[in-house]
Amino acid sequence: MKMGNSSFVAIALLMSVVVLCNGGKTSSYVRNLLQKPVDMPLDSDAFAIPPGYNAPQQVHITQGDHVGQAMIISWVTVDEPGSNEVIYWSNSSLQNFTAEGEVFTYTYYNYTSGFIHHTNITNLEFNTTYFYVVGIGNTTRQFWFTTPPEVGIDVPYTFGIIGDLGQTFDSNTTLTHYQNSNGSTLLYVGDLSYADDYPYHDNVRWDTWGRFTERSAAYQPWIWTAGNHEIDFDLQISGINLSTICQTSFLGTSTLQYKWLTAELPKIDRTETSWLIVLMHAPWYNSYYSHYMEGEPMRVVFESLFIKYKVDVVFAGHVHAYERSERVSNDKYNITNGICTPVKDISAPVYITNGDGGNQEGLSINMTQPQPSYSAYREASFGHGTLEIKNRTHAHYSWNRNQDGYAVEADKLWLFNRYWNPLDDSTTHIP
Ligand SMILES: [Fe+2]
Repeated sequence: MKMGNSSFVAIALLMSVVVLCNGGKTSSYVRNLLQKPVDMPLDSDAFAIPPGYNAPQQVHITQGDHVGQAMIISWVTVDEPGSNEVIYWSNSSLQNFTAEGEVFTYTYYNYTSGFIHHTNITNLEFNTTYFYVVGIGNTTRQFWFTTPPEVGIDVPYTFGIIGDLGQTFDSNTTLTHYQNSNGSTLLYVGDLSYADDYPYHDNVRWDTWGRFTERSAAYQPWIWTAGNHEIDFDLQISGINLSTICQTSFLGTSTLQYKWLTAELPKIDRTETSWLIVLMHAPWYNSYYSHYMEGEPMRVVFESLFIKYKVDVVFAGHVHAYERSERVSNDKYNITNGICTPVKDISAPVYITNGDGGNQEGLSINMTQPQPSYSAYREASFGHGTLEIKNRTHAHYSWNRNQDGYAVEADKLWLFNRYWNPLDDSTTHIP
């Protein structure tokens, strides 16, 4: 089966309706909301198994150190463990290098994984294209990637942002649109395969997802955030209460996450690393009914840190739609003062929800009304984001809607850096 564009057709708007509340915009673009996204079938081209005995599949890479001089190469073999070796060379050298990694397997209910390999290749040059080969000794496959430029305060770089992708025909469209962008590294904001939506959380759908995303993830690093669909407890199998685990494990000032963050944030030297970007899964500022206020327990603990350390922008997923906030905060709220409305705060980050990858659960279409003032733009469509760092003061963000097979830049703005250029970059008026 040939995979192409979205399985459902976007309906053009019949009339231009823009709902404004204090300057925020609810997009007038209307999709066919009656038809839910459909997962691509197991025999789709997007999930094709590479030919050959023990051929590596699900090849993907992620940055292997803080600065970009290492890359972790991961892949799966299914017939036998095979080799953990990666052979690699740069496009400016004829010398081959070899790195050795590790392999493991896991079982989940009645599923047994293939042989999962991870090998970190190190001492790479900046801004250099490397070729690499995996599957040594059996069927080999070759890929390439380009390392980022050396860290510098005014170095331009372009990130893509995708969340909640899944593996539907719409997911396929989103990934194709992203591949046609100029993103050099993908920031992934959680909820990957949605394998846990299948009976007994059929982990075969992890393998199909790994083969589906290889066409991008083998060639550029994807930086990962875990979502709730990556915390895989099946009540049919284990009977464990998921929500209690979630709430007690990750929130509060005595948690490992809080201790880690408070230790890491002061280390960031903004005269070296000019932009501070945070990735999380559940958004703090969300005006859809879906997951409304779910981020509050985390926000009340962490928000003041984001303001103190001048976070520029926060990307989240979870809500299956797009939304962008203005620079707002709500950290003055406590239980007795009654101040519970987010206020304009140019010291605060912009919050962007990119939970719009296209998974089978469908779009979050119900929005709170009227649109709250913190919400600058919201639209229930699939798509992806692009963040272009220009220099220490300016970055350009765009949200690219999947519209009739095209990636249409539906929302865009200039972001001013909170450390180097902390001017008001609002796009709407907040009283
Ligand atoms: Fe989620």
